[in-house]
Formats: sequence, structure tokens, C-alpha cells
Amino acid sequence: MKFFVDTADLDEIRDLAATGMVDGVTTNPSLVAKAGRDFFEALQEICDLVPGPVSAEVTATDTDGMLREAEKLRAVADNIAIKVPTTWDGLKACRRLADEGVMVNVTLCFSVNQAILAAKAGAAFVSPFVGRLDDIGQIGMDLIADIKQVYDHYPAFKTEILVASVRHVTHLLDAARLGADICTIPPNVLRQLIRHPLTDAGLAAFLADWEKTGQKIVKD
Ligand code: E4P
Repeated sequence: MKFFVDTADLDEIRDLAATGMVDGVTTNPSLVAKAGRDFFEALQEICDLVPGPVSAEVTATDTDGMLREAEKLRAVADNIAIKVPTTWDGLKACRRLADEGVMVNVTLCFSVNQAILAAKAGAAFVSPFVGRLDDIGQIGMDLIADIKQVYDHYPAFKTEILVASVRHVTHLLDAARLGADICTIPPNVLRQLIRHPLTDAGLAAFLADWEKTGQKIVKD
């Protein structure tokens, strides 16, 4: 499973990229607003840090406007994936960009029907938002299971399932159990993945016992 980091915060990306776990980054207009940086400058720095796909979202709502914005965004770096909303205009832009060999992330996906359309439009990634479905009383992870089942019927569909709107570590675990290709993870959730009290207690006990031996592996 690939891990993308779901943030536009450079410090967070730098810190997590150092773990070797970061395969890509996703941003959206809200995350860019939260980071409080110039969009293009921040994107350039993110692309320099992370060689994998970096999603940058268009803000135009018509196909031509999206394509004009995509051209500007693509000029930032070769690893930019253009993020378009799941609208007819977004899907038309997706088809045009995919035909030119551009990675497209079809975002704001909330149904299997939308995911089928994204695959037919040649999207490299489809982003179903599990957390936002949970928020309205639906089971977001059911959508991942359903998309996975449908995509598996059609080997011609090359679209990767990018689980988005992840809120906690259980989302990631469930997505992995279902065989989702990618999870885009908020930095705090990614850091929580390693936590286990038995690891902490076990390490403390090992170190205490080692101290009693009076030995050093590397002598000063
Ligand atoms: C990523 O591509 C999405 O924009 C992001 O995961 C949405 O997360 P949210 O629902 O927590 O805003």
C-alpha cells in the first residue's frame, strides 16, 4: 500500500519524508489555505521533497478553465498530478489530460458510479472521501470495498483507489484489509501508526536489563 501525506505543510512533509514512508502528497484548496503559503511556491518545494505524485487541485469549474489551470500547475514539476472534481467538466478535463499522459486525480468521489466514470475518463487516481461519508452517517469504508470489487472485474481500468478523508488509524487498517492502492493520511494519523504500549514497555525493559550488564555495543 502506498502512503501519501494529506497536507500542504512543508515542515510536516519534510519530517515525514525523512521516514522513507511517503510515496506522494495530496493537497486541496482548504489545505493550501491552512498552510498560508503561496500555492506555487509551496507546490514547488513539495515536489522537490517528494518524488512521487503530488496532487494539485484546479479551482476552475469549466473544462477549459481547468485545462488552462492544469497547464500552469503541470509546469511546476513532472510529478504533479492534476486534481479535478467529480463533475462532467472535471471528467472531460480528465480525459483530455489523460490522453496527453498527465496523471489526474478525480476527487470528491462519494459513489461507485462516480468511481466508474473516473476510471472510464482515464484517471490515474480516484479519491473516495471516507471520513466525510462517515460524518453523514454512511459507512465510508463500504464505498472502498464496493469500488475495489467493481474495479477488480475490469482489468482495463488502471485507476488506483486513493482513500481520502482519512481521520484515524482504523481507516487505514480497513483500507489495507480491502486492498486499496493508496491512503492519503493526515500527518498526525501517520505518526500514530507506530504507537503501541507493548513496544514502549518492551523497549524500556530491554534497555533497563542492558544497563545492568554494564556493557556497550559501541565503546566511547
Ligand atoms: C485529499 O485528497 C482530500 O482532499 C482530503 O483527504 C479531504 O479530507 P477531509 O475530508 O478531512 O477534508
